[in-house]
Amino acid sequence: MKFNDSPIGIFDSGLGGLTVFKEIRKILPLEDLIYFGDTARVPYGNKSKETIIKYSSEILGFLTGRNVKIVVVACNTSSSMALEYLQNKADVPVFGVIEPGAKKAVQASSGGNIAVIGTSATIKSRAYSTAIYKEIASLKGDKSSLFGSGFKVTEKACPLFVPLVEEGFLNQEITKGVIKHYLSSLTAEKPACLVLGCTHYPILKDSISAQLDGDTEIIDSGIETAGAVKDYLEKNGMLKSGAKKGGELFFVSDDVEKFKELGGKFLGRPIENVGLADGIK
Ligand code: DGL
Repeated sequence: MKFNDSPIGIFDSGLGGLTVFKEIRKILPLEDLIYFGDTARVPYGNKSKETIIKYSSEILGFLTGRNVKIVVVACNTSSSMALEYLQNKADVPVFGVIEPGAKKAVQASSGGNIAVIGTSATIKSRAYSTAIYKEIASLKGDKSSLFGSGFKVTEKACPLFVPLVEEGFLNQEITKGVIKHYLSSLTAEKPACLVLGCTHYPILKDSISAQLDGDTEIIDSGIETAGAVKDYLEKNGMLKSGAKKGGELFFVSDDVEKFKELGGKFLGRPIENVGLADGIK
């Protein structure tokens, strides 16, 4: 098999990365995709950097063992803690979700304040602020002068969002109350945009949007990452050849049936071809 025809590997701590998978599938319909969800060890968002690196590194080995041509770390927590480590270790390109989301936020904000929400680990790492300020520093001319001394990035951990999504609590009153609780301090800053810095959060997008005033744009890192992956494959002549629809394989480290049931809700369609990954747990 030609290297270009190899699959794209995508992984997350569990189900959330399916929101990224969905966006990749949307714009790259011919690519074969292999998804790994570490359902035995989710969540990563409250774990230490060492543990997140260890888990992510094991999954990288699993995916590269299946000959993937590129790996997408479809998990903000792993992207903020382990990306550099994985990039140094892998012999294929490894993409994270932070940089594409940060780039889009800078573009969308046009100098207005930026708010970021994520897991405790992602927010503690300050990976988004770092990437946002790096992006601003790379801007030239008029664009960079938009970001004056009043510009602010506010980051907020929302640790209850992941369990609410995992339990399917998307529109309940309790969910709306939790969203309001977390977002009230952010909305006070009147952000021009809000980055959904966790792969579970796009599932709550409508409820989150209802708590914002209409002027705050919501940035979905998954959509931006899918675009960056497509660009990279195109520019490097790495797109799959032929016209055959892309295949899909899913692996989990625990409970295939639960993944099928909840994952179907994330993808908005039934999930087939799910297997238990041997040796990872
Ligand atoms: N997928 C994780 C992220 O995007 C959220 C779930 C977890 O804490 O593992 O940060």
